[in-house]
Amino acid sequence: MASSLSSLLPLLLLSLTSFAALSLADYPLPYNFTHVCDAKRYASLNLSIPDFAFCDKSLSYYVRAKNLVDSMNLTEKAKQLGNNNNGEWYAVAAGVPRLGLPAYNWWSEALHGVSYIGGGTSFGGPDVKAATSFPLPINSAAAFNATLWREIGKTISTEARAMNNLGFAGLTFWSPNINLVRDPRWGRALETPGECPTTAGIYAINFVRGLQDVEGQEHSNDPNSRPLKVSACCKHYAAYDVDYWRTTGSMTVDRFHYDANVTERDMVESYLKPFEMCVKEGDVSSVMCSYNKINGVPACADGRRMRGTIRDEWDLHGYVVSDCDSIKTIFEKQQWLDDTAIEATAQVMRAGLDLDCGWYYAQYLEETVKKGLIKESDVDEALINNYIVLLRLGWFDGNPLYDNLNASNVCSVDNMKLAASAARQGMVLLKNKGDALPLSPQKFKRIAIVGPHANATEVMIGNYNGVPCRYISPIDGLKKYAEVDYKCRGCRCAVGLNLTYEREDWDRTGFDLPGYQNHLIETVANVSKGPVVVVIFSSGTINISSFVKSGDVDAIIWAGYPGQEGGQAVADIIFGAYNPGGRLPVTWYPSEYTSQIPETSQQFRPNDELGYPGRTYRFYNGTTQFDFGYGLSYTKFSYSFVNPNVLVTKNVNNARQCYNFLPFEDKQLTDVPACQSALVSDLDCTAGDVSVQVSVTNVGKLDGSDAVMLYAKQPQGLIGAPIKDLVAFERVFLKAGESKVVSFEIDACKRLAFVTESAQEVLPQGEHTLLVGDQKLPVYVHLQKEV
Ligand SMILES: *[C@@H]1O[C@H](CO)[C@@H](O)[C@H](O)[C@H]1NC(C)=O
Ligand SMILES: *[C@@H]1O[C@H](CO)[C@@H](O)[C@H](O)[C@H]1NC(C)=O
Ligand SMILES: *[C@@H]1O[C@H](CO)[C@@H](O)[C@H](O)[C@H]1NC(C)=O
Ligand SMILES: *[C@@H]1O[C@H](CO)[C@@H](O)[C@H](O)[C@H]1NC(C)=O
Ligand SMILES: *[C@@H]1O[C@H](CO)[C@@H](O)[C@H](O)[C@H]1NC(C)=O
Ligand SMILES: *[C@@H]1O[C@H](CO)[C@@H](O)[C@H](O)[C@H]1NC(C)=O
Ligand SMILES: *[C@@H]1O[C@H](CO)[C@@H](O)[C@H](O)[C@H]1NC(C)=O
Ligand SMILES: *[C@@H]1O[C@H](CO)[C@@H](O)[C@H](O)[C@H]1NC(C)=O
Ligand SMILES: *[C@@H]1O[C@H](CO)[C@@H](O)[C@H](O)[C@H]1NC(C)=O
Ligand SMILES: *[C@@H]1O[C@H](CO)[C@@H](O)[C@H](O)[C@H]1NC(C)=O
Ligand SMILES: *[C@@H]1O[C@H](CO)[C@@H](O)[C@H](O)[C@H]1NC(C)=O
Repeated sequence: MASSLSSLLPLLLLSLTSFAALSLADYPLPYNFTHVCDAKRYASLNLSIPDFAFCDKSLSYYVRAKNLVDSMNLTEKAKQLGNNNNGEWYAVAAGVPRLGLPAYNWWSEALHGVSYIGGGTSFGGPDVKAATSFPLPINSAAAFNATLWREIGKTISTEARAMNNLGFAGLTFWSPNINLVRDPRWGRALETPGECPTTAGIYAINFVRGLQDVEGQEHSNDPNSRPLKVSACCKHYAAYDVDYWRTTGSMTVDRFHYDANVTERDMVESYLKPFEMCVKEGDVSSVMCSYNKINGVPACADGRRMRGTIRDEWDLHGYVVSDCDSIKTIFEKQQWLDDTAIEATAQVMRAGLDLDCGWYYAQYLEETVKKGLIKESDVDEALINNYIVLLRLGWFDGNPLYDNLNASNVCSVDNMKLAASAARQGMVLLKNKGDALPLSPQKFKRIAIVGPHANATEVMIGNYNGVPCRYISPIDGLKKYAEVDYKCRGCRCAVGLNLTYEREDWDRTGFDLPGYQNHLIETVANVSKGPVVVVIFSSGTINISSFVKSGDVDAIIWAGYPGQEGGQAVADIIFGAYNPGGRLPVTWYPSEYTSQIPETSQQFRPNDELGYPGRTYRFYNGTTQFDFGYGLSYTKFSYSFVNPNVLVTKNVNNARQCYNFLPFEDKQLTDVPACQSALVSDLDCTAGDVSVQVSVTNVGKLDGSDAVMLYAKQPQGLIGAPIKDLVAFERVFLKAGESKVVSFEIDACKRLAFVTESAQEVLPQGEHTLLVGDQKLPVYVHLQKEV
């Protein structure tokens, strides 16, 4: 059979971290022991373990942590709260030799696999050369599969514990990054689960629980003694989503000086939502505060939002850590309140910062206490918060469940299979003209790949990466199906986005492909006789509207940053071994968007006066290249709600609980009730309040998986309500012709709430609507006043 020629254009849009150059070669590994309270270890240090009550397992973690802290003098205490090597921004606690307490580097990362960023973790020796590199979170998010997020977390923590046993990793990982992609120009979009607060929150809960939970002990009466597999950290708190933006003029805005102007409504409704879910439902053991200011106050010095919200209101069981050098940033760059370094140090400690990634605490805390700016008991409290986490991790006592994990648990066949599955689940089919895909391996025995990153390796693992077990490049993957003709033409004219265009500390200025890349695609599309498939590696919006329209481009796949197995996933999708089911976790705006709204506008709702079009699928009502949640399949799915409607009745005890000032367009519609809405905090809600069954049918000819996405709309006419809000999703696999019923158990208070202009969370009475595909389900909320 004569071979048809198809041209594949992997356009690889690379972003790498600016941290990649850092190396901790100078630091000895602090993990040269099995666990702290090892009797043999104490004996070898000529110390008598019974002298140290913090090693007494019969005592509570709080008592042990307090004993340890009480055993230190102030100088020693300060040295445990940040880096002792001035000028560096790590978080190496010095330890106290006379107490047998070793040094500990708090900073490890595991955004999408154990990473070398931070210095708490390294790769080396004969045993641990590499770890499994999963897709970046923007891809995993696109899978809309909470089980997958939890499995990835579990697998990473198993590899981390094995590496810890071998002396190569810490136990405290400052991941995930759950800031919302408010604006697609943000250089760190690839690190996050996208623009939707609920998706980001559900991602955080599952990834964090995957990392942290010890099987069988997921919940505990005393969360402060609940054991941890490894410790996760939700960051960066809060409204942190500008890195380095260059305006069309010469003005620049960087994250260290940036003052986010945020309404309390946006804060409650959007920016804080994923963090609230991460702390309350994920029971995360750490939160990191961000560099930026919020309405004039540096995030790490904001006592109301840190101590008040995170610790007191949300009841964090763990520690709050600064982004690296935040205190120095407050003092030097922000010059907040004209504070001296010592005063800035006091401010953040009073605000509830327990650990400094940086050297200000180690340098200045002692003086801060001596000057009376803070009490020594404030320092003690911070230390106790930190040590309880290390106690829960088994740093002092070991953990028999994990102490036997070894190199065979890292880069195992199963772990790499999960990375490949994640890459397949997280790719999104954007165009498929005339069912051009999948290609039949029988028909297409020879294919051409054009583009410099056809042989992509490092590009696929993005930033906050480690050393991957291996790479399956697109060429490697496609070779398994067909003879590959690798044309390097175009190598020097067009290389796609890379760290020159988007990265940490560097935002994008627009959505166009740089250089001659558009020209290259057009040229290839013009001359190709076979189907043309464009594969895009990027975090989000690229201006491809002409290729979407073009009759010469047959299919477009968004491949994101798919991790070490990415090329395999691309090939499996192109040749139909896997039917794509991913959906975009961000809106793809048209290219004009960047000229309609500055990156620094924090408001989600449109602003008619300034002509701002609004942000994200929840508030942007303009045209898009692709909507949030868009994604094609090689088959088709249809939906129907099983129940015809839902009635939710909530008791309201007295008139005071009613909030009767909702802004309705048409007053008549609002003459509902004696009680127009009730404060969510006053109501009694559970996950079963709204029980919805959706019947999903695969009406096409191929087996495939579909992410069933359930949206909610507020009662009609409610001014300021989101266009719609994703409330739940579930990815299901269906054979051709098969039907399944998917059940959603929704908490009305959490998912049907409306946030008023004054930032009150209320549940409006009346007819809400649930949407799935083109199907609608009325949900009547009835607020019943008790007599
Ligand atoms: C680890 O411990 C061994 C034996 O106690 C010692 O010889 C070695 O120097 C230590 N290594 C480091 C990096 O501290
Ligand atoms: C412990 O004591 C022994 C005997 O006095 C001495 O040889 C050894 O060097 C000491 N070890 C340490 C770590 O101080
Ligand atoms: C604190 O302990 C260290 C030893 O770890 C000692 O060198 C220092 O003198 C002590 N400081 C005070 C004020 O006692
Ligand atoms: C902050 O944003 C609001 C609108 O949300 C605007 O009225 C106000 O002027 C802004 N303040 C500053 C300092 O930019
Ligand atoms: C790792 O652990 C497994 C299971 O406990 C064991 O079979 C294997 O021999 C160990 N491998 C190494 C390199 O120690
Ligand atoms: C792809 O890259 C690998 C490793 O960098 C190299 O060995 C191989 O020759 C490359 N393949 C092609 C077709 O260039
Ligand atoms: C990114 O691509 C541009 C060309 O578009 C090139 O000049 C630059 O060197 C590349 N940057 C890196 C870090 O590879
Ligand atoms: C592609 O073909 C169209 C229509 O023939 C032509 O207008 C265009 O210039 C061609 N583009 C390139 C880059 O060759
Ligand atoms: C970019 O967008 C503009 C309109 O928004 C469109 O005219 C142009 O064709 C697009 N470019 C590409 C390469 O799709
Ligand atoms: C979209 O929102 C803007 C700003 O609020 C409003 O002026 C416009 O009428 C809306 N357009 C549509 C189609 O709803
Ligand atoms: C969701 O992810 C899990 C874990 O990878 C996987 O076993 C399951 O098949 C996925 N669900 C669907 C419908 O793809």
